[in-house]
Amino acid sequence: MTETPLLAVEGLVKEFSTKNGVVKAVDDVTFQVNKGETVAVVGESGCGKSTLAMTVLGLETATAGEIVVEGDRLGDVSRVVADRLGRDVGIVFQNPLSALNPKMKVAAIVGEPLKTALGLRGKDLHERVALLLEEVGLRPEHMRRYPHEFSGGQCQRICIARALALKPKLLILDEPTAALDVSVQAQILKLLNELQRELGVSYLFITHDLGTVDYIADRVLVMYLGKIVENGPVAQVFSAPAHPYTRALLDWCRRWTRPSAARSKSSVARYRARSTGRPAVPLHRAAPARKVAAAKKFPCQRLAMEFARWRASIP
Ligand SMILES: Nc1ncnc2c1ncn2[C@@H]1O[C@H](COP(=O)(O)OP(=O)(O)O)[C@@H](O)[C@H]1O
Ligand SMILES: [Mg+2]
Repeated sequence: MTETPLLAVEGLVKEFSTKNGVVKAVDDVTFQVNKGETVAVVGESGCGKSTLAMTVLGLETATAGEIVVEGDRLGDVSRVVADRLGRDVGIVFQNPLSALNPKMKVAAIVGEPLKTALGLRGKDLHERVALLLEEVGLRPEHMRRYPHEFSGGQCQRICIARALALKPKLLILDEPTAALDVSVQAQILKLLNELQRELGVSYLFITHDLGTVDYIADRVLVMYLGKIVENGPVAQVFSAPAHPYTRALLDWCRRWTRPSAARSKSSVARYRARSTGRPAVPLHRAAPARKVAAAKKFPCQRLAMEFARWRASIP
C-alpha cells in the first residue's frame, strides 16, 4: 500500500486580476510532497514560485484546484482550513531581516506562535523558546536581543526557529538563502538538512539556484510560466532532463559555474560597458581593487543579463 502524501496539490490555479488583464501566476499545478521529503521548486523569477507557496499556505485563495493535507481535502480556504494550514505548514522567507519585527526581542518573536496557538506562558514559554534557539544553533541568551543585533545568517536561524515553533509537518522555504553570503548559505542548508534528519519535517524548497537543489532536495519540480514542466528525482532530472526548458536551464547554470577564465570574457565586459558607459575591462585583467568592487557590484546584474539573453532565445 502506498503511503498517503503529506501534501497533495491538484490542478491548482491562481489568477490575479490586474488593470492590464488577468495574470495566471499558477496554471494547473499538480504535485505531492511525502513525509520527510524535500521537494525543490525551481524556475526563473516571475514564473509563479512564491504565488504557489502563498496559495499552498492559504495566504492566497486558489482560483481553482485542491490542496489535500494527509488525505484531508481542504476545499475552499476557510478559517478552519487556514488554521489547519497554519498549524501544519510553516514558512521561511527570502529576506530574514525584513521578516522580523525590529521592535520585538527574539524571545517575543519566537515565542509569539507558542503564546497565541498553544497558550504557553512564563517558564514553559521561556524553556520552549530556549530549546528552539538551540535547535537552530543559537544560544538561549540570544532571546534578550533585537533582530538588528544579529547577522543575516543568524536572523534566518531565528526565522527558522519561529517557523518550527508549532512543530509543522511541512516547511515552505521561499528562497531562504538567496539574500545571504555564499558561506552563510552553506551553513543554513546544512542546518536545514540536520533539522530534517532530527525532526522528520518535509520541505518545499523554492529556489532559482540549481546548485542548492542538488545539495538539499530529493525531488525537483521545474516551473515555467506558472506550469510544472518537469517533476522527478533530482539525479534523474539533472542527468536526463526531459523538457527543453529544463535542458536550457541546466546548460545555462553549468556555463556559469565553470571557472571564469573558461567563460567568454567579452559578454560581461560588453554589458558593463553598455550599462555603465565605462570602457570594457575584462574582470580578470582589472586591478585588484576594481576586481573586488566589480565582484561585489555585478554578479547579480551579470547573471540577470545573461539569463535574460538566454531566455529570449527560447521559443
Ligand atoms: N498580488 C499580485 N497581483 C498581481 N500579480 C501578481 C501578484 N503576485 C504575483 N503576481 C504576478 O504573478 C507572477 C508570478 O509571481 P511570483 O509568484 O512572485 O513569481 P516568483 O516567485 O517565481 O518570482 C508574476 O507575473 C507576478 O507579477
Ligand atoms: Mg518569489
